[in-house]
Amino acid sequence: MPHEPVSDDTLCSRAPDPPRSDTRPVSPPIQLSSVYRVGGLDEVDALFGGRAEGFFYARDGHPNGAQLADKLARLEGAEAGVVCASGMGAIAATVLAMTEQGGRVLLSDDLYGKTTTLVARELSRFGVRHDFFDPTRPDTLRDALAQEPDASLIVAETLSNPLLRACDLEGVAAVANEAGVPLLVDHTFAPLLCKPIALGVTLVAHSLTKLISGHADVTLGAVVGPRDLISRIRSVGSTFGQIGGAFDSWLTLRGMVTLPLRVERTSRTALDLARRLEASPMVSRVSYPGLPSHPDHMLARRMFGDRFGAMITFDVGAYERADRLIRALRDIPFAPSLGDAETTVSHPCTTSHRGQDPETLERLGVTPGLIRVSVGLEDVDDLWADFAQALEFA
Ligand SMILES: Cc1ncc(COP(=O)(O)O)c(C=O)c1O
Repeated sequence: MPHEPVSDDTLCSRAPDPPRSDTRPVSPPIQLSSVYRVGGLDEVDALFGGRAEGFFYARDGHPNGAQLADKLARLEGAEAGVVCASGMGAIAATVLAMTEQGGRVLLSDDLYGKTTTLVARELSRFGVRHDFFDPTRPDTLRDALAQEPDASLIVAETLSNPLLRACDLEGVAAVANEAGVPLLVDHTFAPLLCKPIALGVTLVAHSLTKLISGHADVTLGAVVGPRDLISRIRSVGSTFGQIGGAFDSWLTLRGMVTLPLRVERTSRTALDLARRLEASPMVSRVSYPGLPSHPDHMLARRMFGDRFGAMITFDVGAYERADRLIRALRDIPFAPSLGDAETTVSHPCTTSHRGQDPETLERLGVTPGLIRVSVGLEDVDDLWADFAQALEFA
């Protein structure tokens, strides 16, 4: 039908009609609209009352976020998911949704520093207490739960940062489920290596910024789990402004296309590289769960099979040597993140664990000579050539 003639001002200011098409795009369209046109007041009531399906305001949800949340939920075998503005956004929304004033949260040792800070420094301002347990020993969780039976959430990571200690997910989940306390597992370092929900875990969080988006151009997070808990987390996320954006969701959907290939390839390269590092006289210690020398190798083998992920940590013995090695690397950048298609290195002491007191660093085994590697898609011989010359120099 031809349009009524309107002034240039009106024509320019109005959104165009959706394009007419009897076909569907093969790739999902990017939908950046922050708000949606609703038919009338009955329709608003139906949307708010859950009797109608649809988007309303992007801070609550949008098509690209919904597509990504659905894909992640299916990948993890969960009922539902929600996409948040970062990994910390997802973890914070979950902890906030699951905790009351004066409540108690149990944290595994070695959690990502900001997750511990969130509970120990920020939520403690609202009277939330916390205790730690050893994720490799489920009996320590049982003891912590027995001390005071009022915990409302348990938080663990599949693989810890930086020493890649493996959480006994099945054992920890069995204790959590017996006590009736939800278990949140941050699976950022181990996408696809195992499926935590199948092992009894309640909620799985990911920093999508890392391996899942895979190209160092996204800041996003997600949590998946039972529909009722996700609905509560989404509501808290909306109130605190933690819901992720459409473009980053779209980029993550695009990056995920190659996730299985990247996990396969980086696991193979990382094992090869870890073996070469372990054989080097310039390296005093290598932590990679695929190496028989790793303290959790048997547990990792049971949980993961024969793929152990993209992360390796090694020790060159001193802060000065770590600095020299970083400066001597010709092609591998020092960049304090992980999960890019390009290999990067980080120095936990001055980045992820910066500001921790010396006793905590010593307890966690985070020494000044420790280098963390996020293995990418390069040829392993090229990677080794760069590491070998930098180790020689350091
Ligand atoms: C294990 C782990 N969880 C969560 C996060 C937080 O993710 P984001 O940076 O997307 O907030 C990080 C970030 O490095 C991480 O390493």
